[in-house]
Amino acid sequence: MKLLLGTLFLLPLAFGSMQAIASDYTIKFSHVVASNTPKGKAAELFARLVDERTKGRVKIEVFPNSQLYNDNKVLEAMRLSSSKTTGIMAAPSLSKFVKFSNTLQAFDLPYLFNDISDVHKLVDSSLMPRLTSGLNKKGLHALTVWDNGMKVFSIKGEKPLKNTPADFNGMKFRIQSSNIAASMIEKLGGTPQKLPFKEVYTALGQGVVDGQENAWSNVYTKKFYEVQDYISVSNHSYLGYLVVVSNEFWNNLPADIRDAVSISLKEATKANREYAAQADTDDRKKIENGKYAKVVDMSTAERAAWRKATAPVWAEFRDEIGGELIDDVNKLLGR
Ligand code: SIN
Repeated sequence: MKLLLGTLFLLPLAFGSMQAIASDYTIKFSHVVASNTPKGKAAELFARLVDERTKGRVKIEVFPNSQLYNDNKVLEAMRLSSSKTTGIMAAPSLSKFVKFSNTLQAFDLPYLFNDISDVHKLVDSSLMPRLTSGLNKKGLHALTVWDNGMKVFSIKGEKPLKNTPADFNGMKFRIQSSNIAASMIEKLGGTPQKLPFKEVYTALGQGVVDGQENAWSNVYTKKFYEVQDYISVSNHSYLGYLVVVSNEFWNNLPADIRDAVSISLKEATKANREYAAQADTDDRKKIENGKYAKVVDMSTAERAAWRKATAPVWAEFRDEIGGELIDDVNKLLGR
């Protein structure tokens, strides 16, 4: 009797652990932003959809806030990982592929996109495989693009960034690892400083840098607005993400699992666009209604002046990205 009771008591535990080990594959989904952002929410939804669709055979563990890997470090870890059952997936911003793809840098060209519908025109076009084509050779498999939104500039200072180049003079700006962003800041008259996302709030707060460029949801969820005086609605470039996995891990997955993951990603991508559109208005409003940074709209003339000042960046990177590809992108966007 004692033995039976003991066995009964252990049964739920045994069942629980059976459940815990029931998955055939684990995918660690690493990202650097907060969970309540377009990327964070899409990753959680994706994990739920894959779990349902594969009936638990694939478990996606989401690690937000640089908990697992900081910034582009995740791409190195992904490339080095050799497990067939535990893979790494991530959605680094397109700028963070600078070491792995010249063509993807096109996304960073200043004022390439007028708005998010231009972005979707490109991402949903047949040019996308050309833009991601070099990644396979680097051991990476591109799955989909997720939005955050158009970038705005924030600054700590006496006055907002409105004109060019005077307002940028003597100011230091945190940027991602993009060489195009570095050149763009220089053309505007400022000094760029590449820093991991995790360090931005402290760097702004301690005056290591004066300003930064980002999408509304990151400015809000990481509280950049609390340590900045002005936010200029420049919409000068796009912050989006490429969801990637290692080629080796992907190709080793059974076809039915790959299908389930792909369909779930498609659904998560659709939802991501909605989350991003919502965050763009909601997070901007929360900042505008708060007591910290003042939001400053830009006139058409001011926007044109910034565009003119940054135009030489295009010629500088044309050969590296590929002239023909840039021409095709321009044609697609009706330029
Ligand atoms: C991200 O949105 O993933 C980070 C962007 C940044 O590094 O500014």
